[in-house]
Amino acid sequence: MNDFWIKPGKPALFLAPMEGVTDGPMRLLFSELPGFTHLVTEFLRISQEPLPQRLYSKHAQELLSGSRTPSGKPVIFQLLGGNPEKMAESARRAVLAGAKAIDINFGCPAPTVNRNDGGATLLRYPERIEAIVSSMRKSVPEHIPVSVKMRLGWDNPNDLLENAKRAVNGGASWIAVHGRTKFQGYTPPAYWKPIGELRRAISIPVIANGEIWNMEDFYRCREETGCEHFMLGRGALANPFLAQQIIHCLEGLSPRGDTFPSEAQWQNLMDRFFEYCKQASDHPHYGLRRAKQWAGYVNRIFPIRVISELRRANSELEFRNTWHTAPLFLPASTPAGN
Ligand SMILES: Cc1cc2nc3c(=O)[nH]c(=O)nc-3n(C[C@H](O)[C@H](O)[C@H](O)COP(=O)(O)O)c2cc1C
Repeated sequence: MNDFWIKPGKPALFLAPMEGVTDGPMRLLFSELPGFTHLVTEFLRISQEPLPQRLYSKHAQELLSGSRTPSGKPVIFQLLGGNPEKMAESARRAVLAGAKAIDINFGCPAPTVNRNDGGATLLRYPERIEAIVSSMRKSVPEHIPVSVKMRLGWDNPNDLLENAKRAVNGGASWIAVHGRTKFQGYTPPAYWKPIGELRRAISIPVIANGEIWNMEDFYRCREETGCEHFMLGRGALANPFLAQQIIHCLEGLSPRGDTFPSEAQWQNLMDRFFEYCKQASDHPHYGLRRAKQWAGYVNRIFPIRVISELRRANSELEFRNTWHTAPLFLPASTPAGN
C-alpha cells in the first residue's frame, strides 16, 4: 500500500475539498504547512459525457507530477456525478491523466448539482451509490484507492448506515462523513455521534468531518466518533496552524495549546498565496478575489480590524498594503492574542 491509502494506526488528516476555495494555489500553500497528510481536489462534475483527458490535469495540476503537490503531499481527485458508466470512464481517464486516488462526492447540496443527478441527491438511492462505487472501483487498477465522501443523509440522518454499507459493498476504500444532512446545509452544529456509530459498524476507515474550528472541537469530535482520521475545511482556512496542532495530537506528540499565526506569519502566508495565484492564473484580479475570499473566512472566526478596507481594495497592491498594516486583528480576537 502506498501513502495515498489510509491505514489503521496511522492517522490521516485531510484538507477538505471546497469548490472555488481549495484550488491549486490554496492546496499548494496548505501542503507546505505542516499538518495535512492528504489533500482533496474540488469536485469535477460529470454531467453529460466523460470529459476529455486533458481537462483532468487542467482541473488539478498535481496530476502532472504524480498526483502530488511540489512538497510531495498526496492529492486525491474528486469526481461528482450519478451515472455509473460515465463515472467509471471518468475515473479511468483521471487515472490515465495521472490521478493516484479517486474520491466520489455524495455530499454536495447545491441545487444545480442535485437537479442534475449529482452530489447529495444520490443519498436517496442507496442502490445507486453501490452501483457507482462498484463500477468506478472496477474501472481503475487495484492499487488506486476509490473513496467516498457523504453527508449523514438527504433529510434523514438515519440513512447514513445504509448508504455507507452500500459504498462498502461497492468496494469503497474509506468513507469521509460530513456530519449533517443535505437539508441541514451548513447550519451548525455538525452531528458527530452518527459518524462514531458508523465507524463501529463498518470495517473500512471512517474520516470525521464538520465544524472543527479549534482544538476543543477536535477533542470533542474525536471523543464522540472514536475516529483516528479527520478532515478540516473552513477551520483550517480560519487558522492555518490548526492542522499542525491536530496532527501533533493524533501522532501522540505532546499537544500544545491553540496556536495561531503571528501577524508576521500571516503576512508571509498571504504573500505566498498571491504568488501562487499569479503562477496559476493570468487574470489580473484572480489573486485579489481569492485573497478577499480567504480574508472573509478568517474574519468570520477571528475578526480582522481592517476587513472593510480589505473588502474595498481595488488592486492587489491596495489589499497587500492594508493586510500589512498592523495590527491586523482586533485586540483579543485571536487565540494567541496577536
Ligand atoms: C464553499 C464550499 C465548497 C465546497 N466544495 C466541496 C467539494 O467540491 N467537494 C466536497 O466533497 N465537499 C465540498 N464542500 C464541503 C466541505 O468539504 C466540508 O465537508 C464542509 O465544509 C464541512 O467541513 P468544515 O466544517 O470543516 O468546513 C464544500 C464546502 C464549502 C463551504
